[in-house]
Amino acid sequence: MFSLQGHRGARALFPENTLGGLRAAIALGVRTIEIDVGVTRDGAVVVHHDPALTPDLTRDRCGAWLPDRGPLLRELTLAQLAKYDVGRIRPGTDYAERFPGQAAQDGARIPTLDEALALDNTTAWNIELKSLPTHPDWTLAPEEMAERVLHVAGAAGALDRITVQSFDWRAPRHVRRIRPSVARGWLTSAETVADAALWLGRHITDMDDVPDAIAKEGGGAWTPEHTDLTEAMLSRAHELGLLVIPWTVNSRADMLRLIDWGVDGLITDWPDRALTAIAERPAEAGRP
Ligand code: G3P
Ligand code: CA
Repeated sequence: MFSLQGHRGARALFPENTLGGLRAAIALGVRTIEIDVGVTRDGAVVVHHDPALTPDLTRDRCGAWLPDRGPLLRELTLAQLAKYDVGRIRPGTDYAERFPGQAAQDGARIPTLDEALALDNTTAWNIELKSLPTHPDWTLAPEEMAERVLHVAGAAGALDRITVQSFDWRAPRHVRRIRPSVARGWLTSAETVADAALWLGRHITDMDDVPDAIAKEGGGAWTPEHTDLTEAMLSRAHELGLLVIPWTVNSRADMLRLIDWGVDGLITDWPDRALTAIAERPAEAGRP
C-alpha cells in the first residue's frame, strides 16, 4: 500500500503540528500523518518542529510575535508552553511566502503527542524525534526521547500505528533494541549524512552507501530528502528490503516522477495535490 504522508499535518493548507491542522489533514483522507516531537521540562512529549519556539510561528499571551528565537521546549513546562499561540505564520516572512494558502487557526496551541494520537484511532503516525547531534544540550538524549514516545504511544494503544523516525539514528536504533515490533524510519539529508560520525559512530562516505547502512541497522523505511534520491539508490534500497519514502515532495511533477520510479510513499506539505497525483497513477501507487 502506497504511504501518502501529510507533512506536519498538511503544512501548506493548515497550521503545522496543531490539533486543528492534524484533524483537517485527516479529514482530507490522509491515512498517515508526519509530526515532529520534543519534550518539555516536565517530561511531556509535545508536537513541534523546532527545539525552541520560533519567531516565524509564535505569539505570546499578549498576541505579540516573538522578536527572536524563544526558549527551548525543554526549558518550559507544558503549562508555560500552552500560553503560546502557533496558529498562524508570521506575515511578511519567507515562511509565509512559501505557504500563502495556509488557513490560519488563531489560538492554536502546541499539542501533546497523546492529544494528537487521540484524534483518530485508525490514522498512522510517522513521529519524527527532533534530537540534534550538533546541539546535544537542546533536547533530551535521543534514547530517552524514544522511550517517552513509546510510553505515550503505548498508553494510547497506538504502538502498531506509529513509525519512529529521526535524522539522529540513535533514536530508531534504541527503538529496535527495546521495542523491535515498532516500525522505524531512517531520515537523511546531505547535511546529516555528512555529520554521520556524530550519530552513527562512523562516517558515511557517500549517499549511495545509505541503504546498506540502514540495512545494517535492521532495516525499515528510508526517508531521504527527495532531491538526494536516484533510481539506482531506490533500486538498491528495494534489493535490501527497505521501504523508501522521500520528503518533502511538493510539486506535482516530482510526485509523478517518484511514483513512476516506484517509491513506497511520499511525505508532502500538499497531500491534496498528492491524492490527485496518486489517482492518476493507480497501477503504480495503488490507493493511499
Ligand atoms: O519527515 C521528513 C521531514 O519532516 C524532515 O524535515 O525539517 O520538515 O522535519 P523537517
Ligand atoms: Ca519532520
